[in-house]
Amino acid sequence: MKKLFVLLTVVMAICAMSCFSYADDEASDILVMYFSRTGEQYTVGVIDKGNTAIVAEMIAEQTGADLFEVLPVDDHYPMTYNALTDVAKQEQNAKARPEYDKEEQPDFSQYETIFIGAPVWWGDWPMIMYTVFENNDFTGKKLIPFSTHEGSGLSGFDRKLQNACPDAEVLTGLAIRGNDCQNRQDSVKQSVEDWLSGLGFQNAQ
Ligand SMILES: Cc1cc2nc3c(=O)[nH]c(=O)nc-3n(C[C@H](O)[C@H](O)[C@H](O)COP(=O)(O)O)c2cc1C
Repeated sequence: MKKLFVLLTVVMAICAMSCFSYADDEASDILVMYFSRTGEQYTVGVIDKGNTAIVAEMIAEQTGADLFEVLPVDDHYPMTYNALTDVAKQEQNAKARPEYDKEEQPDFSQYETIFIGAPVWWGDWPMIMYTVFENNDFTGKKLIPFSTHEGSGLSGFDRKLQNACPDAEVLTGLAIRGNDCQNRQDSVKQSVEDWLSGLGFQNAQ
């Protein structure tokens, strides 16, 4: 009887362990994809973590999502603010499609929902994001835009994303002040939490 009890306990323990490890290994069907710059940024001086990166990490933490940072192949973006605005303006005027690094790009087909974030650059998505939108198939996916900015809000990110990816469903976006990302993270976290719960996401923390 005692042996049977020990055996049962061992079997139950193995089952419990395998259940937990299954939960740990379970792949997320949510991705947070973002573009963000360090260096000198408007109103915040030189930063070592980009404003949009901070919001992206909060979303990933609260939803249990995977993260993918869109990085330029050949990083031609200056680290000083004025020079960066010049390069960004030239790219926008030229409707450039700067190349991004696909080496770390996950297989988008495994994700049902993709949060997509970037700084507002001259009232629009940075041109590199259009390269991503136009070079991949987002058919049937839920795409959720978010921006960081210094006054322009979401700048039509949602409408422009829907135009670039007409076969995706674009949901309500979020706009956060870049300065708040550096200096008022508790309130940013709260805004992210409220937005996510409005979209129907449970807090995964
Ligand atoms: C090239 C460039 C253009 C910008 N254009 C705008 C703009 O049109 N409207 C706005 O509100 N903020 C604008 N900003 C401010 C950024 O959107 C803001 O600082 C953002 O939080 C930077 O995010 P990041 O650190 O993730 O790159 C601009 C900044 C840069 C560098």
